[in-house]
Amino acid sequence: MKKVLTTVTLFIMVILVISLMVLNAGAWNNSLAKTPPMGWNSWNIFAGNIDETKIKQIADTMVSSGMKDAGFVYLNLDDNWMANPARDSSGNLRADPTRFPSGMKSLSDYVHAKGLKLGIYGCRGTMTCMNVPQSGSKGYEDRDAKTFASWGIDYLKYDNCNIPNGSDMKTDYQKMQSALANCGRPIVFSICAWGYADWMPATGNLWRTTGDIADKWDNGTNWFNGIINAIDNNSKYTNSATPGAWNDPDMLEVGNKGCTTEEYRTQFSMWSMMAAPLIAGNDIRSMTQATKDILLNKEVIDVDQDPAGKQGSRVKSANGLEVWVKPLGTDGKTKAVALLNRNSSTSSITVNWSDIGITGSATVRDLWAKADKGSFNGSYTASVPSHGTVLVKISTAQTSTSTSAPTLTPTATPTPTPTAVVTQRSAFSKLEAESYNSLNSTTIQTVTTVNGGSGIGYINNGNYLVFNKIDFGSGATSFKALVADSGTANIEIRLNSPTGTLAGTLQVASTSDWNTYQEQTCSINKVTGVNDVYLVFSGAVNIDWFTFAGTVNTPTSTAAIFTGDLNNDGVVNMADVIILAGSFNSVRGDTKYNPLYDANGDGSINMADVVIIAGKFNSVVTKTAS
Ligand code: GLA
Repeated sequence: MKKVLTTVTLFIMVILVISLMVLNAGAWNNSLAKTPPMGWNSWNIFAGNIDETKIKQIADTMVSSGMKDAGFVYLNLDDNWMANPARDSSGNLRADPTRFPSGMKSLSDYVHAKGLKLGIYGCRGTMTCMNVPQSGSKGYEDRDAKTFASWGIDYLKYDNCNIPNGSDMKTDYQKMQSALANCGRPIVFSICAWGYADWMPATGNLWRTTGDIADKWDNGTNWFNGIINAIDNNSKYTNSATPGAWNDPDMLEVGNKGCTTEEYRTQFSMWSMMAAPLIAGNDIRSMTQATKDILLNKEVIDVDQDPAGKQGSRVKSANGLEVWVKPLGTDGKTKAVALLNRNSSTSSITVNWSDIGITGSATVRDLWAKADKGSFNGSYTASVPSHGTVLVKISTAQTSTSTSAPTLTPTATPTPTPTAVVTQRSAFSKLEAESYNSLNSTTIQTVTTVNGGSGIGYINNGNYLVFNKIDFGSGATSFKALVADSGTANIEIRLNSPTGTLAGTLQVASTSDWNTYQEQTCSINKVTGVNDVYLVFSGAVNIDWFTFAGTVNTPTSTAAIFTGDLNNDGVVNMADVIILAGSFNSVRGDTKYNPLYDANGDGSINMADVVIIAGKFNSVVTKTAS
């Protein structure tokens, strides 16, 4: 009995420790930026054309316009603040003596006296992106961090240009991280390397997930992201955001005149939904009222600054109409919901309570209209202008335990294209999803996939596709599908009727969005002979093709998976669990995902794998304890 109790206690301890670690997996805790940083940066509006007079006027306006009181406290200089060449004869960085005649210490004193903080810009290479000679910190990391500290700098944006051969990005950023940690002043570290890497949350307080922002709505796949492109790119890393560590889709373009007011409202709404840094990039000395109304909307800012620090995500997407949710606080009773219209005309968008995990009656407040909309049961619908976003706060009295998968409510006419003649097909060939023989839904549509082919989308809960006369020969034991999903869903593989024998269930893990396709696999009970295959869906998923295989699809692992000895040191212990925790919440295709740690080979690393390792962990502890 004692042994059982010890085992149970140990198991619970492991789960608790892992849960705590996973909550803050990998974030750098320098106690800064516990909510997404807010401020202003010179690049989007002035590029390299900055001087001390202009920057002091910006500081004055940050106070007089109400920006400071709204939370915008970092005044960040971008490229070209430095002299040319950038270093003095001793090798220390210096400000441009003509444009910043009083020097950086004097400027930071001015900024600090206003209750603001001063940010500066540097680069991991030999020169910044404007190629100012000697301006890079390569080899000068400690010295430059100390210089910044002596000037009273509070924030460093660290760029990625002019990299000498043989440099390693991670090493360079870690060097500046430790230089900042040892410079004697708290300095927020903003990584600007134009894309996410899994070491970034442990290295900086924020990291750019995108190329540079452009003052445009949609710039396709160009390195300069339009607002909608940056939203899509940044939404791929939802799980990496946590207090002190934020995904950065780049600075705001609000007020820079290249987009409509609705588009700028979408930028501000969606940056807030994604817990992104809110760094204004316009000439705040001459803001229109419309720009002020966006930047100073405290209720929207509060969504961004929610102390729980969760990045919101897309839960529903159909025909360019999207629903996003961000939990606010930790009691599960309040959520921010964004209804985003990517299309060129006004449309109604509905959020169903089941999309966001609540039930019953809930109150709705519109954060742009600044109006309470009343109490609603089950859903809320709003009219959303082209490229606009309606942002609402939805509050329930009771926390719901519902975690049901999102459902889609497409509005377009379905265009099913069933295969007319039923011929026998091999289960082991690639079966295109759109080659179904029949289906039970009028909403399902054929969609174009990014790889140029077709797939099936607009699937609702309970929909199924039927593939007649599929020949399993002497036996199939696994199922594989190419799927895209911005949430999660289940695909049941049933035989000969929608409620027939359940061969297996593919638990589809999120692939971040509806256009990112990944192969996902599950094992099934052995199926032989010719059967009609029913793919029965709960939750929304896009599916391109599927196939079956004759052997159980085990992960590409070695014995490590089966022993739990992930570090191969001959014993299963906490060290192995810690290794697994580093990949927690990743799915096949993520940079964090390591098939060796996917103990059950289901394509995602989660509590189920911890449980498997923990089971082995207990037995080892029992054996080694005296
Ligand atoms: C890069 C960065 C921009 C800006 C410029 C300055 O392009 O991504 O945000 O800092 O450099 O040269």
